[in-house]
Amino acid sequence: MSHRRSSFQSNDLFPREIDIEVCLKTLKIFQKIEGDVNCVVWDASLVLAKYLETMSQNKADFLSGTRVLELGSGLGVVGLTAATLGAQVTLTDLPEALPLLRLNIKENKSKISSMGGYAIAEALVWGDHNSQIHKDEFDMIVLADCVYYEEAVDPLLETLQCFSNTITKKPTMYLTQELRDSEIQKKLWKKFYDKLTDLFIVEQIPEEEQHKNYRSSDILLLRIKKKSY
Ligand SMILES: C[S@@+](CC[C@H](N)C(=O)[O-])C[C@H]1O[C@@H](n2cnc3c(N)ncnc32)[C@H](O)[C@@H]1O
Repeated sequence: MSHRRSSFQSNDLFPREIDIEVCLKTLKIFQKIEGDVNCVVWDASLVLAKYLETMSQNKADFLSGTRVLELGSGLGVVGLTAATLGAQVTLTDLPEALPLLRLNIKENKSKISSMGGYAIAEALVWGDHNSQIHKDEFDMIVLADCVYYEEAVDPLLETLQCFSNTITKKPTMYLTQELRDSEIQKKLWKKFYDKLTDLFIVEQIPEEEQHKNYRSSDILLLRIKKKSY
């Protein structure tokens, strides 16, 4: 997949509002009328964002004050939700996704800071270990709908391994993935999942533990931890 430059004009954009019920805030997320995969909100990101909200409702310090890294943020729904729930979040994506991602951070900045959170967006291409972000350590890694093309499977797993192998922190990772019907996508997910379970302890979070209105049998939610040897 090539990494293209992207730009936008404000009349290309339309907003979507996402309520965070637990803190009575509403995120405003700009999407593009036409564009690449990083220009729309995917359902898997809503399932993960709402799971983070559900967990924060049950456990007040679930996100508050924690350092969170989001991979493949797209428009930033998951990372911005975590930041509004009090986390210090680094949202990442391909360089061409950053202008819109940064616009969404700016749009929601005052809500985030009123809750004690923080959000910043940086470029991070999976498999590239030279990024400055690799100098940081995180308590949690989140990613939604990032398994959808073959060439990214190994670099994405390498990036997960890299961030889970840090000196002081052993981050818990939360991943959502929409399971698509095509044979190609089924094979791709199997390949990713088999490798993931070889490398990490992987637990599927049952639908009953997810947000009652934002869960689906087509969207897997996984909790992933580093194996201890
Ligand atoms: C299907 S979209 C999901 C976006 C967002 N997480 C959501 O669920 O709404 C996949 C995201 O992965 C990003 N992505 C794809 N390949 C990547 C790579 N090699 N390195 C970093 N990000 C990548 C895309 O730009 C896109 O934002």
